[in-house]
Amino acid sequence: MEQIIGRMATATIFIFLAALAFPSGLRAQNDAAKTFKTNCTLCHGEDGSANTPTGKALKARDLRSDEVQKQTDAQLAAIITKGSGKMPAFGSKFSPDMIKSLVAYIRQLPKK
Ligand code: HEC
Repeated sequence: MEQIIGRMATATIFIFLAALAFPSGLRAQNDAAKTFKTNCTLCHGEDGSANTPTGKALKARDLRSDEVQKQTDAQLAAIITKGSGKMPAFGSKFSPDMIKSLVAYIRQLPKK
């Protein structure tokens, strides 16, 4: 029994250290990817194409398209924060930092 607890404690410490060692920039990107997946894909699709039943019904644009990508980071961040048309506002749900990470995530969608 003591051995099992010891092993569990070692595993916990190991996971903790691994999380700390992870470069924080990369972690922010991963968080953005996760956040996008859980909050945005319903309408925008995993790849940002909006090729989903909801995306089509609401006429969301392809996030990879020039029309979207030519907008500035500040413009995209404002749309995510305040919403636009049928796009819900996320300003009360996410920190400005997370919204910045989401914009960065949208920026790299065309490169996928
Ligand atoms: C309920 C469906 C829905 C959800 C959920 C949603 N969006 Fe949108 N989004 C839209 C629609 C519809 C538009 C087009 C808005 C318009 O016509 O002005 C849009 C527009 C945008 C735009 C501007 C692109 C353009 O058309 O110029 C960005 C950026 C964006 N969404 C990001 C996000 C992010 C990031 C999330 C998740 C945090 C998200 N959206 C969640 C429906 C949604």
